Amino acid sequence: MLRTLRSVLRFRRFELDPVARRLSRVACVEDLRRVARRRLPGGVFDYIDGGAEDERTLARNTGAFERLEFRPRILRDVGELRTETSLLGAPLPFPLVLAPTGFTRMAHPEGELAVARAAARAGLPYTLSTLSTRSIEEVAAVSRGRRWFQVYVWRDRGLLKEMLERAAAAGYEAIVITVDTPMLGRRERDVRRGFTLPPKLGLDTLLAGALHPGWTWSFLRAEPIAFANVVGPSGRDGVGDGSDPVALADYINTQFDPALSWSDIGWFRSVWDGPIVLKGVQSVDDARLAADAGVEAVALSNHGGRQLDGAPPPLELVAPVADAVGDRIEILCDGGIRRGSDIVKAVALGARACMVGRAYLYGLAVGGERGVDWVIDHLHEGMRRTLGLVGASRVDQLGPEFVRWR
Ligand code: GLV
Repeated sequence: MLRTLRSVLRFRRFELDPVARRLSRVACVEDLRRVARRRLPGGVFDYIDGGAEDERTLARNTGAFERLEFRPRILRDVGELRTETSLLGAPLPFPLVLAPTGFTRMAHPEGELAVARAAARAGLPYTLSTLSTRSIEEVAAVSRGRRWFQVYVWRDRGLLKEMLERAAAAGYEAIVITVDTPMLGRRERDVRRGFTLPPKLGLDTLLAGALHPGWTWSFLRAEPIAFANVVGPSGRDGVGDGSDPVALADYINTQFDPALSWSDIGWFRSVWDGPIVLKGVQSVDDARLAADAGVEAVALSNHGGRQLDGAPPPLELVAPVADAVGDRIEILCDGGIRRGSDIVKAVALGARACMVGRAYLYGLAVGGERGVDWVIDHLHEGMRRTLGLVGASRVDQLGPEFVRWR
């Protein structure tokens, strides 16, 4: 009996390193999300996880991937699988870009530096947000990889121009102009919690702090969070640097220019030499105007369901936009990507690559830089496996014949 028992009993070695232990127990991005929910104070988790108003668009973004199914082919010799592609004229190990996210240091004190390093290690572009908690230069100092800079259009064009000059001097490859945020969407989870940036440590947050000691300890030990691109060289009167708590809606609605229009794209061309990506395109008509305006790429995006509730899921726009302008510009797609199979679906419909934001933030919250590595590897591995299972051995073999709407 003892021999039988010994042959079947297997204890997992207890992992002493807490990050490795946590990561050894997750199997997918949704698992990471659940762990992140436990580890982060509610307000921080909800800021990352939530969407606008009734969160219909947020739900439909992921729902679109459920509605699209594969039409797999068999016996196609998938013995050698290749996930490489190219984007903005440079090679990419697989079709993924790390999207800009604001206030990344709230998820983990290493914040943007951890994400930039993980992206560079994987050979993927990392997009630094205007509202980042590490500056253009700090990120450049830790990553020689492909870096893009996301811009919100400040009312103060002088400040914006300085930021673009700093991005060019620091070797950023492209700018990503976010065009879906003339004003901030109403994120009602944040409204209910009275959430500010940086998070205020009030009575409720102190309670949350006691319930989330790991996060609170590292948050309090780290240097204060602020809008890193606004302090320092570009600091100006009347432009808050985020060191005092602000409601994001107040900040964005006072600092960013709602009068932005197509005629401003010419201004960007005059001050920025590299490629321009328009992020937040939500219709075929606007994709056409973007191509006419001469930008290199559009990112079909509804800001992860955080802006206009009722906006269409980007996945549904990929094929019609590819039909309209796919021969003139490159198409990115974000919103709801949680698996490598989601990337395969978007690429089959005509996207050049996908962007993920929340997926890596959950990883960052759970495991810091190693959590971001985990997510990137998981998406890459999932993509490779899906290619094999649908019967395509290379990315350029994918096409609309591999998918159908249910
Ligand atoms: C910032 O851009 C946000 O979506 O919170």
